[in-house]
Amino acid sequence: MTPVDRNLRAVTAADDWTASSWRARTALQLPRYPDQAALEGALRELRALPPLVTSWEILALKQQLAEAQEGRRFVLQGGDCAESFDACSSELISNRLKVLLQMSLVLVHGLRKPVVRVGRFAGQYAKPRSTDTETIDGVTLPSYRGDMVNGAAFDAQVRTPDPRRMIKAHARSAMTMNFVRALIDGGFADLHHPEYWDLNWVGHSPLADEYRRMVDAIGDAVRFMETLSGEELHNLNRVDFYTSHEALLLPYEESMSRRVPRHQGWFNLSTHFPWIGMRTAAVDGAHVEYFRGIRNPIAVKVGPSAGADQLLRLMDVLNPDDEPGRLTFIHRMGAANIADKLPALLNAVRRDGRRVLWICDPMHGNTESTANGYKTRRFDNIGSELQQAFDLHAAAGTRLGGAHLELTGEDVTECLGGARELTEVDLERAYHSTVDPRLNYEQALEVAMLVVRKHSQLTSAV
Ligand code: PEP
Ligand code: CO
Repeated sequence: MTPVDRNLRAVTAADDWTASSWRARTALQLPRYPDQAALEGALRELRALPPLVTSWEILALKQQLAEAQEGRRFVLQGGDCAESFDACSSELISNRLKVLLQMSLVLVHGLRKPVVRVGRFAGQYAKPRSTDTETIDGVTLPSYRGDMVNGAAFDAQVRTPDPRRMIKAHARSAMTMNFVRALIDGGFADLHHPEYWDLNWVGHSPLADEYRRMVDAIGDAVRFMETLSGEELHNLNRVDFYTSHEALLLPYEESMSRRVPRHQGWFNLSTHFPWIGMRTAAVDGAHVEYFRGIRNPIAVKVGPSAGADQLLRLMDVLNPDDEPGRLTFIHRMGAANIADKLPALLNAVRRDGRRVLWICDPMHGNTESTANGYKTRRFDNIGSELQQAFDLHAAAGTRLGGAHLELTGEDVTECLGGARELTEVDLERAYHSTVDPRLNYEQALEVAMLVVRKHSQLTSAV
């Protein structure tokens, strides 16, 4: 069977599902649009716009995720906590791509297996919030829910959910995709030229030597293979990039759900790999209902309050055919909780025997506030959660198949620690995130190196 055939095997198409059946369920975290006619108009317009990705790319990713489930690939998923309309610029996009490419190079070299690269971009514009409203100096306004819903400025008009923002989010996502595709087609990701990915400001990075050595070793290997085979290795001059976002704003996701010729079922064509956030993962909730009927590979964030029962029920509902590559659980427990919470979940799923891909998000369980009022994360906690995840999977007989990170290619100071030992005072220098703190370029590369070190420790121990 060819790889695509495997993905085309019959899956049960739920006959009680439609792209709008989620509307009969409890939908958390959705904005209230004051103008229903404007909302309907925006959704009609979206339904007529072209998709951002194709069904065959989606199925190719599902195949790669199936291989990751079997330990033949490692998934690197990363990008901003929230994209913003203002940050849709050539430099920011290419810098983010550079970091992800450099990290994947480190991972490919160190893990000796192909890496599936998935960006948190081209659609990561809607955010869950802990409260519906925010009060400042006695004034209460709707919370900021991401650029595709409302604006961040504390102003009554800006904070009012505006459905036209969905059209703008679609356009910004398309521009981002277009630029990423053009860069990759143009040879930006060519393994013969990893120097294209260098970022100017890191010339004196404490990590530079280790990274250079790795790049040189890969260059030698490429030249050696080409000498042996007598020709250029063409598949090295382009790599695949897939997109993902939290599919939180269901009216938008519904309008991007389409049928396509020659493939059965419905696809969400706004992204390759949508995920359900921790706050909207109730088995009988609207988000799970929507995700049940689309054929994309999908992920669910799993936090410290999730029980083994919930995971098994999610598997029943979201992957009744135990389809390879279909379902990923992204655990995000926090360094202090993971040893306590994760083993029971791993054991229950292993005993059940159905397949899932496990990915660790070491960011969202490790958020804290500093005395000077910044939301931050400590590099040591991020590293610790990841390393514990590797150990806990090894102990449970399951496999950690990837890492999910919030990062940027910019020289931001949002997370503490790392090779340059950023302190609370540094946070004042370059804190740009409107939502969660991201790893900067160096810290992100350091996480990739840490994954490699941990992996080799575990494999040399057996
Ligand atoms: C996120 O990924 O930005 C997020 C909100 O995560 P979680 O649902 O895990 O809290
Ligand atoms: Co976040």
